[in-house]
Amino acid sequence: MSDFKVLTSPQGGRVTLDGRDIINMAANNYLGLANHPRVVQAAKDALDKYGLGAGAARGIVGNFAPHEELEEKLAAFKGTEASCVFNSGFAANLGAITQLIGKGDDVFSDELNHASIIDGIRLSKATVHAYPHMDMAALEKMLAESTAENKMIVTDAVFSMDGDLAPIPEIVELGKKYNAKVMIDDAHGDGVMGPSGRGTVDHFEVREGVYVETGSLSKGFGSAGGFVAGPKDFIDKVSKQARSFIFTATPMQPCMAAAAVAALDILNESDELVRTLWDNREYFMKGITDLGFDTRTTQTPIIPVMTYDEEKARELSARLFEEGVFSQALAFPVVPREQARLRVMVSAAHTKADLDEALSGFEKAGKALSII
Ligand SMILES: Cc1ncc(COP(=O)(O)O)c(C=O)c1O
Repeated sequence: MSDFKVLTSPQGGRVTLDGRDIINMAANNYLGLANHPRVVQAAKDALDKYGLGAGAARGIVGNFAPHEELEEKLAAFKGTEASCVFNSGFAANLGAITQLIGKGDDVFSDELNHASIIDGIRLSKATVHAYPHMDMAALEKMLAESTAENKMIVTDAVFSMDGDLAPIPEIVELGKKYNAKVMIDDAHGDGVMGPSGRGTVDHFEVREGVYVETGSLSKGFGSAGGFVAGPKDFIDKVSKQARSFIFTATPMQPCMAAAAVAALDILNESDELVRTLWDNREYFMKGITDLGFDTRTTQTPIIPVMTYDEEKARELSARLFEEGVFSQALAFPVVPREQARLRVMVSAAHTKADLDEALSGFEKAGKALSII
């Protein structure tokens, strides 16, 4: 038994959480696809056709048609030669990084990169040079000093706690200048950034300069799992050698792969959900900053509402819950010390009425706690 709050409704803009109808400002369900009728129907159809569990490794007798279709469609969506799906974005990062670098290589990693990147680097045994968050001058200095033959720069595209964007064009330039491969984790950019949600690399139009991308199917795409996308020879290597691929012997359930395919089909057909997401994001962002909250440098639907003080963040989250709004308080070690915050997530699943109600909750709670 956990002490986590319990959901008794589908994921969405409003949910039933611990028995209460509440506005949900905390999910990664950016486009509302986790409960989109077409996505759910695709999973149901695949359940009827293929049953539940994959039952065996992909290389044995667990490679279902939806896995193949998903990999093909993901590669096309991301504009890469090939892709390979994993059971989670975490496992995808472990798999990609350990196949890209090893002992004796130098890896340059933003200090705020996701834990799965940090763990992948540890597993790889490469020498890590963590550069201060987005500090391109520091990164260049480190690259210039490196004598390693094999170098790689790795970064989150959208930083998951601050919602800011990595300066990928500059990173690509530095990669070219110092002969370092570039790896981008776009877990929070897929479905969100770029034309029709194709991601942050397409947003910056730097596809040629990025060697490999990783992502998650559990956020913008509303399903579960992760993927690596890149050149065909590299993807072949990952699927034959990456331990987090071959030894999570049983792949994602075929129905989850079919659901992710439906999500990609929706995005390929129309950018309506992406536009709704951004419209909602701009609306909420204006409202929350007009109220006087400190949201730092976010550029995306991840909006940190800073309290800095840990106890204040918890109190704000609790007060909001009383007002019918759920937003998660985050403190050390998830974010640096004295940088506690609420991490507010805006979704295409929110209506304007939901956002107005959430803003009114923030106003009441913020005033009651003298934050605004
Ligand atoms: C930047 C980043 N990379 C990777 C992951 C892991 O993705 P998944 O939840 O699919 O394991 C996350 C999830 O929080 C993330 O934020």
